[in-house]
Amino acid sequence: MSLQSQIETLRSEISAAIAGADTETALDAVRVAALGKKGSVSALLATLGSMDPEDRKAAGPAINGLKNDVAGLIDARSISLKSAALEARLKAETLDVTLPLQPAPTAKGRIHPISQTIDEITAIFSDMGFSVAEGPDIETDYYNFTALNFPEGHPAREMHDTFFMKPGPNGEKKVLRTHTSPVQVRVMQKTNDKPSASYLTPPQDPPIRVVIPGRTYRNDSDQTHTPMFHQVEGLVIDKSSHIGQLRWVLEEFLKAFFEVPNVTLRFRPSFFPFTEPSMEVDVQCDRSGAEVKIGEGNDWLEILGCGMVHPNVLEHAGLDPSVYQGFAFGVGIDRLAMLKYGMPDLRAFFDADQRWIEHYGFRPLDLPTLFGGLSN
Ligand code: DAH
Repeated sequence: MSLQSQIETLRSEISAAIAGADTETALDAVRVAALGKKGSVSALLATLGSMDPEDRKAAGPAINGLKNDVAGLIDARSISLKSAALEARLKAETLDVTLPLQPAPTAKGRIHPISQTIDEITAIFSDMGFSVAEGPDIETDYYNFTALNFPEGHPAREMHDTFFMKPGPNGEKKVLRTHTSPVQVRVMQKTNDKPSASYLTPPQDPPIRVVIPGRTYRNDSDQTHTPMFHQVEGLVIDKSSHIGQLRWVLEEFLKAFFEVPNVTLRFRPSFFPFTEPSMEVDVQCDRSGAEVKIGEGNDWLEILGCGMVHPNVLEHAGLDPSVYQGFAFGVGIDRLAMLKYGMPDLRAFFDADQRWIEHYGFRPLDLPTLFGGLSN
């Protein structure tokens, strides 16, 4: 076969192979078979060495021309394969930008109404100049009862349906706190000589203005009682604190909380060992419709307990009752939340039912503020 026809045969075979290569890998195999060390075109080039100079003059450009043509065809095919691959990928990865957005995880979660209510309450009292304090859920019998002027064996201890805990290593009697009132004493106590006195809340010198939200526990369960519930305690101590201020603070708080222009309160005499005098407070409301409306109507709803701090409690806390006096109040947070947000059964609060929290829960990052509106 003449060199010329050998070249033409190779050209047509290799061109066909290039055209038939439909992946980059297949194309590379064709390139190796033609132009690689042992490739067919390279083999032809190698014959140049043994030719006599006259023949080589004509054969050289012809074979090199084949080599260049093959390289050019391979490059062109490679470019078209690459753009076809890109085309296919773009088609496969198309995104419909008109689809609705998936909600982000932060937008899906909900704040529990109790947390929301606590945030609302602390926002209101912070605005009135109160600070926020906390105390331990597992409380000593001393702080829960004795320091609050419940004498040993006093029937009020039984009225609290207390959960008793194992005593501490030193025999100290412990309970799940039945109210947030023990934190009053922890806040007032001037000395830290008792190891558990004030480890969550530093003691404060009068004047004291503090609110204390937290979990409380009593052995009781029905539609409006759960064994764990929440209270917020208020405490104001100064040299001249009086019931008029107590009344103003409560009225301002309830107006802000229920987001109504006016509330009417009724103070009834009552008994708590840690206050003297003690009062229970009813708020005027309308119960004629499906939901209770605060600030109108001619019904009354009991809403909190309060009073002037008993001198014995001040003494237990290391304050001189002949110098200082003050007032305190205790409110059920769950009750307030039920009233404000129309939730009829307290037990549902703690059932961890996702449908309930989706319905009654609040959007995260919507923190209640007085200027922004508490609940919206
Ligand atoms: N600790 C009381 C309770 O749980 C509520 C209470 C009443 C708290 C009067 C007070 C108060 O601070 O002054 O029943």
